Amino acid sequence: MAILLVLLSALLSSPGIVSAGGNAFRPADEFLVNCGARNLDSIPDGRIFKTDKDAQGYLQTKQDILVSIPSANVSSPLYLSARIFKEDATYAFTLKSAGWHWVRLHFFPMNNTEFDLRTATFSVSTDKYALLHNFNMNNITQAVLKEYLINMTDPNFSIHFIPLKNSAAFINAIEVVSAPDILISDQATSLFPVNSFAGLNNFGYEVVYRLNMGGPLITSENDTLWRRWVPDKPYLKHESMAKSASVPTSSIKYGPGISSLIAPATVYASAEQMADSETRIQNFNITWNFVADATFSYVVRLHFCDIVSKSLNDLYFNVYLNGKMAISGLDLSSIKDELAVAYFKDFVVDASLMSDGLAVEVGPMGDETGTRNAILNGLEVFKMSSRVNSLDGVFGVDGKMLESHKAVVYVGFGLMFGAFVGLGAMLLKWHKRPQDWQKRDSFSSWLLPVHAGDHSFMTSKTSLGSHKTNFYSSALGKAEDESKLSAALADSPAAVAAPDAFFHLRH
Ligand SMILES: *[C@@H]1O[C@H](CO)[C@@H](O)[C@H](O)[C@H]1NC(C)=O
Ligand SMILES: *[C@@H]1O[C@H](CO)[C@@H](O)[C@H](O)[C@H]1NC(C)=O
Ligand SMILES: *[C@@H]1O[C@H](CO)[C@@H](O)[C@H](O)[C@H]1NC(C)=O
Ligand SMILES: *[C@@H]1O[C@H](CO)[C@@H](O)[C@H](O)[C@H]1NC(C)=O
Ligand SMILES: *[C@@H]1O[C@H](CO)[C@@H](O)[C@H](O)[C@H]1NC(C)=O
Ligand SMILES: *[C@@H]1O[C@H](CO)[C@@H](O)[C@H](O)[C@H]1NC(C)=O
Ligand SMILES: *[C@@H]1O[C@H](CO)[C@@H](O)[C@H](O)[C@H]1NC(C)=O
Repeated sequence: MAILLVLLSALLSSPGIVSAGGNAFRPADEFLVNCGARNLDSIPDGRIFKTDKDAQGYLQTKQDILVSIPSANVSSPLYLSARIFKEDATYAFTLKSAGWHWVRLHFFPMNNTEFDLRTATFSVSTDKYALLHNFNMNNITQAVLKEYLINMTDPNFSIHFIPLKNSAAFINAIEVVSAPDILISDQATSLFPVNSFAGLNNFGYEVVYRLNMGGPLITSENDTLWRRWVPDKPYLKHESMAKSASVPTSSIKYGPGISSLIAPATVYASAEQMADSETRIQNFNITWNFVADATFSYVVRLHFCDIVSKSLNDLYFNVYLNGKMAISGLDLSSIKDELAVAYFKDFVVDASLMSDGLAVEVGPMGDETGTRNAILNGLEVFKMSSRVNSLDGVFGVDGKMLESHKAVVYVGFGLMFGAFVGLGAMLLKWHKRPQDWQKRDSFSSWLLPVHAGDHSFMTSKTSLGSHKTNFYSSALGKAEDESKLSAALADSPAAVAAPDAFFHLRH
């Protein structure tokens, strides 16, 4: 009996088990690596990360650059140590089970003598997905968590870190952890027109936003699956139009098909609702705005729970995504003929509807039914992998490029051709250079036209939007992209001018 009790308590206190809301989840795979760490520090959420030494077996690299700092203004000791890679490096894991897994990458650009990590630029990929393309911290000195959900189909799972030339890659901590299958069902709803959408299992996802409306920050220690939910206030378009509501978490009910694995009760126990307006008839939407990348489609998961109504069938409201009706006349009490029942719904918002980022709106239904109010309890936004299996940028890991961006590249080559013509003009000038050129103020006075031509390639293609710089640096920076560039160059008119111009320059 005593042995049984010991076993039971060991089982309950093991970090792999979560028992919130009666749902236990034990991940089959749980790789937790505290990169660069020499000591076993306890993490606030109680999980135990392997030290760098204990995790050596996963790492394939010829370099051994470990950095650490004694303290910093960060939320977890995971951010106090890192590994730096000046060449390509790979972490390889052997998985026990197929299916959905979290991949969490923790970055903090700590002060060190090896490399300025605030400017380190690098790419990260798995064998299938490009996760980060020419990523850098943009000089910010805060910790960044990149989180992905990937359906693993191969027991060998690798994460490749690829620094840009003369730069470095770094990583503070890695999590590769099984996620429950119910987390993503294959079915969702598409927009405009509202229709059923099948095939969510065929994508990889980056979790880009996860919000707890009207409630507190939920850290990994309070979530069944070590997720982080942040308060919604910074994303409200007009903060004064929303007011928070909350109830004790014990009043939240989960129906079949939904459990605290989908979202903890803390998410459903709070909401934003319409603030009282001075007008007699409340008629406005609560709006949240998010930055999104129009290269990608997104899954928007809306979490609802009617914690504001006093009776059934009294609250009917509309939900809009990017101005399009997503749900009309939602009555949460009709789902189980009860109040305070957790409910969620997934929408696929196509890239074609994403040009101005993402706007989520809730507002009262137009007619005279019930109380005029609208609520939202939680929101998750997942970026969907593109056709070339990228979650960042337009290139896949095989160097394939997203079709819709090829045309833009040809325009780029056209501009480059212009630059080469400029180069030719410069060479002509060089041959006819004045005898006293070395005595003159500067050289640039007659090189200027070339600079102008070169510049236009980088700045004149506004249609590339945020990818402009990505493409520019990737096309000229990385070996794989370089070969792509020269291959494309070989069948573009610029190729005729290029070798000649470069040849002459060497003289
Ligand atoms: C610590 O970081 C938080 C946000 O990450 C910031 O609000 C706070 O001001 C910082 N504190 C100090 C002392 O820098
Ligand atoms: C993962 O993908 C495979 C192959 O596409 C599919 O058969 C499987 O059902 C997916 N698993 C989950 C949990 O969605
Ligand atoms: C970074 O380190 C250098 C020397 O190691 C030190 O002079 C500097 O103050 C440090 N900066 C910060 C922000 O800690
Ligand atoms: C980053 O910050 C450093 C010093 O704070 C500055 O010299 C550098 O120009 C900045 N880089 C970028 C890309 O903003
Ligand atoms: C996984 O990798 C190991 C060694 O790296 C190899 O022997 C094995 O065949 C691989 N398995 C699959 C399914 O690719
Ligand atoms: C998170 O968990 C800690 C420890 O269990 C608890 O003290 C805290 O109140 C919880 N926070 C929330 C928002 O539930
Ligand atoms: C709420 O937003 C939708 C979509 O943007 C819009 O059509 C509707 O008129 C708005 N309702 C109110 C009351 O402003």
